[in-house]
Amino acid sequence: MTTTKSSRALVTGASSGIGAVYADRLAKRGYNLTLVARDVGRLEAAAEAIAASHDVEVETLAADLGSLSDIADVVAHLRGDESITLLVNCAGVSPHGTTAISAADELDQLIAINVNALHALSIAAAQVFGVRGAGGIINVGSVTSLMPEQFNPSYVASKAFVLALTQSLAAEYAATNIRFQAVLPGLTRTALFERSGVDISTLPAHMMMEAGDLVDAALRGYDLGETVTIPSLEDETLWGNQEAARMALAPYLSLARPASRYA
Ligand SMILES: NC(=O)c1ccc[n+]([C@@H]2O[C@H](COP(=O)([O-])OP(=O)(O)OC[C@H]3O[C@@H](n4cnc5c(N)ncnc54)[C@H](OP(=O)(O)O)[C@@H]3O)[C@@H](O)[C@H]2O)c1
Repeated sequence: MTTTKSSRALVTGASSGIGAVYADRLAKRGYNLTLVARDVGRLEAAAEAIAASHDVEVETLAADLGSLSDIADVVAHLRGDESITLLVNCAGVSPHGTTAISAADELDQLIAINVNALHALSIAAAQVFGVRGAGGIINVGSVTSLMPEQFNPSYVASKAFVLALTQSLAAEYAATNIRFQAVLPGLTRTALFERSGVDISTLPAHMMMEAGDLVDAALRGYDLGETVTIPSLEDETLWGNQEAARMALAPYLSLARPASRYA
């Protein structure tokens, strides 16, 4: 990851947790920052803390990414600021429980934030970076996309979207200098749990990563050129095997005749 003095990163969900750490680490790497979230007070506090410890310019953009008009505003900002060379889509929410007890509007909001906003910003960034010939897009997904049986269906489906979108964009732009990375955190110590009504102390400590360790590992994965980064995965051949198994299906996924067992 190289930056010039005028490079800027737009980070969504930058007011707390993983996004706030991304903002700090990218400032350390010399990026000017555009921080996006809803809570103006927390955004301003994050911006002041970063500006106090790093010699970079930090601006805030308050937006509710659950709102179509606010998504459009952030997309317009991204398209209009030629200094933005890196997009980090980190804003996200987790539901308060199972499907049976979830309110429909809560799940609609989850899809708006985790899927619609991330999609609109990723596509806009790919298009403008494509014209300029360079740029980077980091999308924060979740390991739950690989374990759909173990978490809330709407959340895992939203994170499966993040993974598929990022892998597909990476393939489409493979011949360019535009970089795409899906980061798949496992349990990470942030306010996400409290916000979704989960007592973090009830979760297994050996599965809980600190947000700083997570982001440092993910940025190292970005530097290594990974399209998919699973920060806790020691044996990377396991991911390679899973991708190889997926690719082995390819010759059989679309054929003129149904398989014999369906005759
Ligand atoms: N923590 C984990 O264990 C874990 C595991 C896997 C994946 N993730 C993913 O990591 C990402 C960051 O989550 P986190 O753990 O850092 O949680 P967090 O501390 O709750 O941070 C979430 C961020 O998203 C922003 N956000 C939420 N709703 C928004 C909205 N409607 N519009 C704009 N911004 C909004 C929040 O800011 P405002 O409230 O100010 O808007 C905040 O900055 C999420 O995508 C999450 O799914 C987390």
